[in-house]
Amino acid sequence: MTDQKTILVTGGAGFLGSHLCDRLIAEGHEVLCLDNFFTGGKANIAHLVGNPRFELLRHDVTLPLYVEVDQIYNLACPASPIHYQHDPVQTTKTSVHGAINMLGLAKRLKCPIFQASTSEVYGDPSVHPQTEDYWGNVNPIGPRSCYDEGKRCAETLFFDYHRQHKLEIKVARIFNTYGPRMHPSDGRVVSNFIVQALKGEPITIYGDGGQTRSFCYVDDLIEGFLRLMDSPKEVTGPINLGNPGEFTMRQLAELTIELTGSKSRMAFQSLPQDDPKQRKPDITQATERLGWRPTVPLKEGLRRTIAYFDKLLAGRPDRPDSVRRLRATGGGARAAA
Ligand SMILES: NC(=O)c1ccc[n+]([C@@H]2O[C@H](COP(=O)([O-])OP(=O)(O)OC[C@H]3O[C@@H](n4cnc5c(N)ncnc54)[C@H](O)[C@@H]3O)[C@@H](O)[C@H]2O)c1
Repeated sequence: MTDQKTILVTGGAGFLGSHLCDRLIAEGHEVLCLDNFFTGGKANIAHLVGNPRFELLRHDVTLPLYVEVDQIYNLACPASPIHYQHDPVQTTKTSVHGAINMLGLAKRLKCPIFQASTSEVYGDPSVHPQTEDYWGNVNPIGPRSCYDEGKRCAETLFFDYHRQHKLEIKVARIFNTYGPRMHPSDGRVVSNFIVQALKGEPITIYGDGGQTRSFCYVDDLIEGFLRLMDSPKEVTGPINLGNPGEFTMRQLAELTIELTGSKSRMAFQSLPQDDPKQRKPDITQATERLGWRPTVPLKEGLRRTIAYFDKLLAGRPDRPDSVRRLRATGGGARAAA
Protein backbone atom coordinates (compact mmCIF):
# COMPACT_ATOMS: atom_id res chain seq x y z
CA MET A 1 0.00 0.00 0.00
CA THR A 2 1.18 3.53 -0.75
CA ASP A 3 -0.21 5.58 2.13
CA GLN A 4 1.12 3.74 5.19
CA LYS A 5 0.63 5.71 8.40
CA THR A 6 1.65 5.27 12.01
CA ILE A 7 -1.52 5.35 14.06
CA LEU A 8 -1.99 5.65 17.82
CA VAL A 9 -5.00 3.81 19.26
CA THR A 10 -5.64 4.61 22.93
CA GLY A 11 -7.68 1.92 24.66
CA GLY A 12 -6.36 -0.38 21.94
CA ALA A 13 -6.56 -3.55 24.08
CA GLY A 14 -10.27 -3.06 24.73
CA PHE A 15 -13.25 -4.43 22.86
CA LEU A 16 -13.54 -1.76 20.13
CA GLY A 17 -9.86 -0.78 20.24
CA SER A 18 -8.64 -4.28 19.47
CA HIS A 19 -10.94 -4.56 16.44
CA LEU A 20 -9.72 -1.16 15.28
CA CYS A 21 -6.09 -2.31 15.63
CA ASP A 22 -6.92 -5.42 13.58
CA ARG A 23 -8.49 -3.36 10.83
CA LEU A 24 -5.65 -0.79 10.69
CA ILE A 25 -3.02 -3.53 10.56
CA ALA A 26 -5.03 -5.25 7.80
CA GLU A 27 -5.01 -1.95 5.87
CA GLY A 28 -1.19 -1.94 6.01
CA HIS A 29 -0.65 0.71 8.71
CA GLU A 30 1.66 0.70 11.71
CA VAL A 31 -0.25 0.69 14.99
CA LEU A 32 0.85 1.94 18.39
CA CYS A 33 -1.64 0.41 20.80
CA LEU A 34 -1.80 2.19 24.16
CA ASP A 35 -3.66 0.81 27.15
CA ASN A 36 -3.52 0.72 30.95
CA PHE A 37 -5.37 -2.64 30.96
CA PHE A 38 -8.10 -1.49 33.32
CA THR A 39 -10.84 -3.18 31.32
CA GLY A 40 -8.90 -4.30 28.25
CA GLY A 41 -6.96 -7.53 28.11
CA LYS A 42 -3.80 -8.76 26.49
CA ALA A 43 -5.80 -11.66 25.09
CA ASN A 44 -7.62 -9.20 22.81
CA ILE A 45 -4.42 -8.24 21.02
CA ALA A 46 -2.26 -11.32 21.64
CA HIS A 47 -2.57 -12.32 17.97
CA LEU A 48 -1.01 -8.98 16.93
CA VAL A 49 1.98 -9.13 19.26
CA GLY A 50 5.01 -10.09 17.17
CA ASN A 51 3.69 -8.36 14.06
CA PRO A 52 6.43 -5.88 13.07
CA ARG A 53 3.80 -3.22 12.37
CA PHE A 54 2.23 -3.54 15.85
CA GLU A 55 3.58 -2.05 19.08
CA LEU A 56 2.04 -2.23 22.54
CA LEU A 57 2.52 0.50 25.13
CA ARG A 58 1.30 0.29 28.74
CA HIS A 59 0.36 3.85 29.59
CA ASP A 60 -2.42 5.83 31.25
CA VAL A 61 -3.96 8.59 29.11
CA THR A 62 -4.34 10.80 32.17
CA LEU A 63 -0.55 11.28 31.90
CA PRO A 64 1.13 13.19 29.07
CA LEU A 65 2.51 11.19 26.16
CA TYR A 66 5.31 12.03 23.73
CA VAL A 67 5.32 9.86 20.60
CA GLU A 68 5.46 10.48 16.85
CA VAL A 69 2.37 9.36 14.93
CA ASP A 70 0.30 10.45 11.91
CA GLN A 71 -3.19 9.90 13.36
CA ILE A 72 -4.76 9.38 16.79
CA TYR A 73 -7.85 7.40 17.71
CA ASN A 74 -8.77 8.19 21.33
CA LEU A 75 -10.81 5.29 22.71
CA ALA A 76 -9.38 4.93 26.22
CA CYS A 77 -12.20 4.95 28.77
CA PRO A 78 -14.12 2.27 30.64
CA ALA A 79 -17.42 1.96 28.79
CA SER A 80 -19.82 -0.08 30.90
CA PRO A 81 -21.58 1.19 34.04
CA ILE A 82 -20.05 -1.48 36.28
CA HIS A 83 -16.55 -0.41 35.22
CA TYR A 84 -16.96 3.35 34.95
CA GLN A 85 -18.74 3.53 38.31
CA HIS A 86 -16.01 1.47 40.00
CA ASP A 87 -13.78 4.57 40.29
CA PRO A 88 -15.90 7.48 39.04
CA VAL A 89 -13.27 10.15 39.70
CA GLN A 90 -10.78 8.22 37.58
CA THR A 91 -13.44 7.85 34.87
CA THR A 92 -13.89 11.61 34.59
CA LYS A 93 -10.12 12.08 34.67
CA THR A 94 -9.70 9.54 31.89
CA SER A 95 -12.19 11.37 29.68
CA VAL A 96 -11.12 14.91 30.48
CA HIS A 97 -7.38 14.69 31.25
CA GLY A 98 -7.11 11.97 28.60
CA ALA A 99 -8.68 14.28 26.02
CA ILE A 100 -6.41 17.18 27.04
CA ASN A 101 -3.30 15.01 26.77
CA MET A 102 -4.25 13.46 23.43
CA LEU A 103 -5.38 16.81 21.99
CA GLY A 104 -2.08 18.34 23.13
CA LEU A 105 -0.24 15.55 21.36
CA ALA A 106 -2.30 16.05 18.18
CA LYS A 107 -1.64 19.80 18.35
CA ARG A 108 2.12 19.27 18.58
CA LEU A 109 2.06 16.73 15.75
CA LYS A 110 -0.53 18.68 13.68
CA CYS A 111 -2.31 15.39 13.07
CA PRO A 112 -6.00 14.42 12.92
CA ILE A 113 -7.56 13.05 16.08
CA PHE A 114 -10.67 10.89 16.49
CA GLN A 115 -12.74 10.85 19.67
CA ALA A 116 -14.86 7.88 20.72
CA SER A 117 -17.78 9.80 22.18
CA THR A 118 -21.05 8.19 23.05
CA SER A 119 -24.81 8.24 22.74
CA GLU A 120 -24.73 8.74 26.52
CA VAL A 121 -24.18 12.45 25.83
CA TYR A 122 -27.91 12.47 24.98
CA GLY A 123 -28.74 11.14 28.46
CA ASP A 124 -32.38 10.04 28.79
CA PRO A 125 -33.42 11.64 25.51
CA SER A 126 -36.66 13.52 24.96
CA VAL A 127 -36.02 13.48 21.19
CA HIS A 128 -36.35 10.22 19.35
CA PRO A 129 -34.45 9.10 17.31
CA GLN A 130 -31.49 11.19 18.43
CA THR A 131 -30.02 13.63 15.93
CA GLU A 132 -26.64 15.25 16.46
CA ASP A 133 -28.16 18.69 17.06
CA TYR A 134 -30.08 17.43 20.13
CA TRP A 135 -28.30 18.73 23.26
CA GLY A 136 -29.35 15.91 25.54
CA ASN A 137 -31.03 15.38 28.87
CA VAL A 138 -28.24 14.45 31.27
CA ASN A 139 -28.23 14.35 35.05
CA PRO A 140 -25.01 16.17 36.02
CA ILE A 141 -24.79 14.69 39.55
CA GLY A 142 -26.01 11.10 39.24
CA PRO A 143 -24.03 7.84 39.31
CA ARG A 144 -23.70 7.82 35.51
CA SER A 145 -22.54 11.44 35.31
CA CYS A 146 -18.82 10.61 35.59
CA TYR A 147 -19.13 8.95 32.20
CA ASP A 148 -21.80 11.09 30.52
CA GLU A 149 -20.44 14.45 31.62
CA GLY A 150 -16.83 13.32 31.17
CA LYS A 151 -17.60 12.50 27.54
CA ARG A 152 -19.51 15.76 27.09
CA CYS A 153 -16.57 17.75 28.45
CA ALA A 154 -14.23 15.82 26.15
CA GLU A 155 -16.40 16.86 23.18
CA THR A 156 -16.19 20.48 24.37
CA LEU A 157 -12.40 20.22 24.48
CA PHE A 158 -12.27 18.71 21.00
CA PHE A 159 -14.33 21.55 19.54
CA ASP A 160 -12.36 24.22 21.42
CA TYR A 161 -9.08 22.80 20.15
CA HIS A 162 -10.62 22.81 16.67
CA ARG A 163 -11.79 26.45 16.93
CA GLN A 164 -8.79 27.76 18.84
CA HIS A 165 -5.93 25.73 17.34
CA LYS A 166 -7.43 24.66 13.99
CA LEU A 167 -6.95 21.03 14.94
CA GLU A 168 -8.49 18.42 12.61
CA ILE A 169 -11.01 16.61 14.81
CA LYS A 170 -13.35 13.69 14.18
CA VAL A 171 -15.94 13.12 16.89
CA ALA A 172 -18.08 9.97 16.68
CA ARG A 173 -21.06 9.44 18.96
CA ILE A 174 -21.13 5.69 19.29
CA PHE A 175 -24.35 3.84 20.05
CA ASN A 176 -24.49 0.37 21.65
CA THR A 177 -22.06 -1.89 19.84
CA TYR A 178 -21.56 -5.59 20.37
CA GLY A 179 -19.44 -8.43 19.08
CA PRO A 180 -16.60 -10.81 19.92
CA ARG A 181 -14.19 -9.59 22.67
CA MET A 182 -16.87 -7.83 24.66
CA HIS A 183 -16.14 -8.29 28.30
CA PRO A 184 -18.09 -11.30 29.62
CA SER A 185 -18.96 -9.73 32.98
CA ASP A 186 -19.28 -6.00 32.43
CA GLY A 187 -23.07 -5.95 32.62
CA ARG A 188 -23.63 -4.77 29.05
CA VAL A 189 -26.87 -6.18 27.85
CA VAL A 190 -25.75 -8.29 24.88
CA SER A 191 -22.86 -9.98 26.70
CA ASN A 192 -24.99 -10.35 29.82
CA PHE A 193 -27.81 -12.11 27.98
CA ILE A 194 -25.50 -14.36 25.97
CA VAL A 195 -23.43 -15.46 28.98
CA GLN A 196 -26.55 -16.08 31.06
CA ALA A 197 -28.16 -18.04 28.22
CA LEU A 198 -25.04 -20.13 27.60
CA LYS A 199 -24.79 -20.93 31.30
CA GLY A 200 -28.52 -21.73 31.48
CA GLU A 201 -28.97 -19.01 34.13
CA PRO A 202 -32.00 -16.69 34.33
CA ILE A 203 -31.76 -13.76 31.91
CA THR A 204 -31.82 -10.53 33.91
CA ILE A 205 -34.17 -7.90 32.55
CA TYR A 206 -34.44 -4.51 34.20
CA GLY A 207 -37.91 -2.99 34.43
CA ASP A 208 -40.54 -4.64 32.24
CA GLY A 209 -38.12 -5.14 29.35
CA GLY A 210 -40.02 -2.67 27.19
CA GLN A 211 -37.12 -0.17 27.04
CA THR A 212 -35.42 -0.17 23.65
CA ARG A 213 -31.83 -0.10 22.42
CA SER A 214 -30.19 -0.27 19.03
CA PHE A 215 -27.32 -2.69 18.50
CA CYS A 216 -24.50 -2.21 16.02
CA TYR A 217 -22.17 -5.04 15.09
CA VAL A 218 -18.53 -4.18 15.75
CA ASP A 219 -17.27 -4.62 12.14
CA ASP A 220 -19.87 -2.11 10.93
CA LEU A 221 -18.81 0.40 13.57
CA ILE A 222 -15.09 0.12 12.77
CA GLU A 223 -15.87 0.73 9.10
CA GLY A 224 -17.60 3.95 10.25
CA PHE A 225 -14.50 4.95 12.28
CA LEU A 226 -12.24 4.65 9.23
CA ARG A 227 -14.65 6.49 6.96
CA LEU A 228 -14.91 9.34 9.45
CA MET A 229 -11.13 9.56 9.87
CA ASP A 230 -10.67 9.56 6.08
CA SER A 231 -13.43 12.14 5.48
CA PRO A 232 -12.66 15.71 4.31
CA LYS A 233 -11.19 18.09 6.90
CA GLU A 234 -14.43 20.01 7.35
CA VAL A 235 -16.25 16.88 8.56
CA THR A 236 -15.64 17.23 12.30
CA GLY A 237 -18.74 15.51 13.66
CA PRO A 238 -20.21 14.99 16.10
CA ILE A 239 -21.63 12.23 13.99
CA ASN A 240 -23.81 9.35 15.18
CA LEU A 241 -22.54 5.84 14.46
CA GLY A 242 -24.90 3.05 15.36
CA ASN A 243 -27.56 0.76 14.02
CA PRO A 244 -31.00 2.36 13.90
CA GLY A 245 -32.78 -1.01 14.19
CA GLU A 246 -34.67 -0.80 17.49
CA PHE A 247 -35.30 -3.76 19.78
CA THR A 248 -36.82 -4.09 23.22
CA MET A 249 -34.83 -5.88 25.91
CA ARG A 250 -37.45 -8.58 25.85
CA GLN A 251 -36.99 -9.13 22.10
CA LEU A 252 -33.22 -9.31 22.53
CA ALA A 253 -33.61 -11.86 25.32
CA GLU A 254 -35.95 -13.99 23.19
CA LEU A 255 -33.59 -13.92 20.21
CA THR A 256 -30.62 -14.83 22.41
CA ILE A 257 -32.51 -17.76 23.91
CA GLU A 258 -33.50 -18.93 20.43
CA LEU A 259 -29.97 -18.69 18.98
CA THR A 260 -28.24 -20.35 21.93
CA GLY A 261 -30.92 -23.02 22.25
CA SER A 262 -30.91 -22.22 25.97
CA LYS A 263 -33.50 -23.22 28.54
CA SER A 264 -32.99 -19.93 30.41
CA ARG A 265 -36.01 -17.91 31.51
CA MET A 266 -36.31 -14.18 31.95
CA ALA A 267 -35.96 -12.72 35.47
CA PHE A 268 -37.21 -9.17 36.03
CA GLN A 269 -35.49 -6.64 38.35
CA SER A 270 -36.10 -2.97 39.09
CA LEU A 271 -34.64 -0.35 36.74
CA PRO A 272 -31.38 1.29 37.87
CA GLN A 273 -31.26 5.08 38.31
CA ASP A 274 -31.08 7.20 35.12
CA ASP A 275 -31.45 4.19 32.82
CA PRO A 276 -32.58 5.64 29.47
CA LYS A 277 -35.96 4.34 28.23
CA GLN A 278 -35.10 4.38 24.56
CA ARG A 279 -32.07 4.96 22.43
CA LYS A 280 -31.92 4.99 18.65
CA PRO A 281 -29.51 6.86 16.39
CA ASP A 282 -30.52 9.02 13.49
CA ILE A 283 -27.71 8.16 11.05
CA THR A 284 -28.67 10.53 8.23
CA GLN A 285 -25.39 12.45 8.63
CA ALA A 286 -23.25 9.30 8.59
CA THR A 287 -25.09 8.06 5.52
CA GLU A 288 -24.93 11.34 3.62
CA ARG A 289 -21.45 12.52 4.63
CA LEU A 290 -19.61 9.20 4.97
CA GLY A 291 -21.70 6.92 2.77
CA TRP A 292 -21.92 4.65 5.82
CA ARG A 293 -24.68 2.43 7.08
CA PRO A 294 -24.58 -0.81 9.09
CA THR A 295 -24.87 -4.02 7.10
CA VAL A 296 -24.81 -6.87 9.63
CA PRO A 297 -28.30 -7.89 10.83
CA LEU A 298 -28.77 -8.46 14.58
CA LYS A 299 -29.36 -12.19 14.14
CA GLU A 300 -26.09 -12.66 12.24
CA GLY A 301 -24.09 -10.48 14.62
CA LEU A 302 -25.51 -12.33 17.61
CA ARG A 303 -24.58 -15.67 16.05
CA ARG A 304 -20.94 -14.55 15.70
CA THR A 305 -20.89 -13.13 19.22
CA ILE A 306 -22.45 -16.26 20.71
CA ALA A 307 -19.77 -18.38 18.97
CA TYR A 308 -17.08 -16.22 20.62
CA PHE A 309 -18.58 -16.46 24.12
CA ASP A 310 -19.17 -20.17 23.72
CA LYS A 311 -15.43 -20.64 23.13
CA LEU A 312 -14.48 -18.16 25.85
CA LEU A 313 -16.59 -19.87 28.50
CA ALA A 314 -15.07 -23.20 27.55
CA GLY A 315 -11.47 -21.93 27.70
CA ARG A 316 -11.29 -18.82 29.93
CA PRO A 317 -8.32 -16.96 28.34
CA ASP A 318 -6.71 -14.20 30.44
CA ARG A 319 -8.97 -11.50 31.88
CA PRO A 320 -7.69 -8.30 33.46
CA ASP A 321 -6.87 -8.37 37.18
CA SER A 322 -9.08 -5.36 37.80
CA VAL A 323 -12.06 -7.38 36.66
CA ARG A 324 -11.19 -10.31 38.87
CA ARG A 325 -11.02 -7.78 41.72
CA LEU A 326 -14.42 -6.40 40.78
CA ARG A 327 -15.89 -9.87 40.79
CA ALA A 328 -14.28 -10.68 44.12
CA THR A 329 -15.83 -7.56 45.64
CA GLY A 330 -19.23 -8.55 44.36
CA GLY A 331 -19.60 -6.09 41.44
CA GLY A 332 -22.68 -7.61 39.85
CA ALA A 333 -24.32 -6.89 36.53
CA ARG A 334 -25.89 -3.44 36.17
CA ALA A 335 -28.00 -1.83 33.55
CA ALA A 336 -26.53 -2.07 30.12
CA ALA A 337 -25.69 1.19 28.38
N1 LIG B 1 -18.89 -0.42 23.07
C1 LIG B 1 -19.84 0.48 22.97
O1 LIG B 1 -21.00 0.14 22.74
C2 LIG B 1 -19.54 1.95 23.12
C3 LIG B 1 -20.59 2.85 23.02
C4 LIG B 1 -20.32 4.21 23.16
C5 LIG B 1 -19.03 4.65 23.33
N2 LIG B 1 -18.02 3.75 23.42
C6 LIG B 1 -16.65 4.28 23.65
O2 LIG B 1 -15.71 3.57 22.89
C7 LIG B 1 -14.49 3.43 23.63
C8 LIG B 1 -14.10 1.97 23.71
O3 LIG B 1 -15.14 1.26 24.38
P1 LIG B 1 -15.08 -0.34 24.54
O4 LIG B 1 -16.47 -0.81 24.43
O5 LIG B 1 -14.05 -0.91 23.66
O6 LIG B 1 -14.66 -0.44 26.07
P2 LIG B 1 -13.47 -1.26 26.74
O7 LIG B 1 -13.61 -1.08 28.21
O8 LIG B 1 -13.43 -2.64 26.21
O9 LIG B 1 -12.20 -0.49 26.21
C9 LIG B 1 -11.66 0.64 26.83
C10 LIG B 1 -10.16 0.48 26.87
O10 LIG B 1 -9.57 1.65 27.45
C11 LIG B 1 -8.60 1.24 28.41
N3 LIG B 1 -8.48 2.32 29.39
C12 LIG B 1 -9.40 2.71 30.32
N4 LIG B 1 -8.94 3.76 31.02
C13 LIG B 1 -7.70 4.03 30.52
C14 LIG B 1 -6.71 4.99 30.83
N5 LIG B 1 -6.88 5.90 31.81
N6 LIG B 1 -5.55 4.99 30.13
C15 LIG B 1 -5.34 4.07 29.15
N7 LIG B 1 -6.24 3.13 28.81
C16 LIG B 1 -7.41 3.12 29.49
C17 LIG B 1 -9.14 -0.05 28.99
O11 LIG B 1 -8.17 -0.84 29.62
C18 LIG B 1 -9.72 -0.70 27.73
O12 LIG B 1 -8.77 -1.45 27.05
C19 LIG B 1 -14.73 4.08 24.98
O13 LIG B 1 -14.22 5.40 24.97
C20 LIG B 1 -16.23 4.11 25.10
O14 LIG B 1 -16.67 5.19 25.90
C21 LIG B 1 -18.24 2.40 23.34
